[in-house]
Amino acid sequence: MNQQQLVERARQVKENAYSPYSNFRVGAALLMKDGTVIDGVNVENVSFGATNCAERTAIFTAVAQGYKKGDFEAVAVSGDTVDFLPPCSICRQVLVEFGDPDFKVLLTNGNADVKEVTLEELVPLAFTELEM
Ligand code: THU
Repeated sequence: MNQQQLVERARQVKENAYSPYSNFRVGAALLMKDGTVIDGVNVENVSFGATNCAERTAIFTAVAQGYKKGDFEAVAVSGDTVDFLPPCSICRQVLVEFGDPDFKVLLTNGNADVKEVTLEELVPLAFTELEM
């Protein structure tokens, strides 16, 4: 699956977002190194703090399916925004847990323009396991 197809998948899955409180739909398409694509959407709750972002929905699904650290290739994130939609900081930390520094993050906007960054560029000086 190429970059454009992954972005298109994220745009399509965004339609399944459950966001009645923010009306802010987000779709994520997570590409695994074996070529599998795993979808994620934001799922909100009347107790707002129970909300889960699209990126984490996809990552947690991948883990539930048996994928491990190092199996993750790229993620496309789609919203209806004018600017490129970047993952929130909680999702960035979860991405760091499973993605290599060269994991690709495809930021898109409502027009499907794409900006590609590596995870290392998105999260410089990431908190990871440190030696004591
Ligand atoms: N949201 C995501 O799904 N991903 C992000 O990286 C940014 C925020 C969701 C959470 C909430 O449902 C809505 O967007 C507004 O913050």
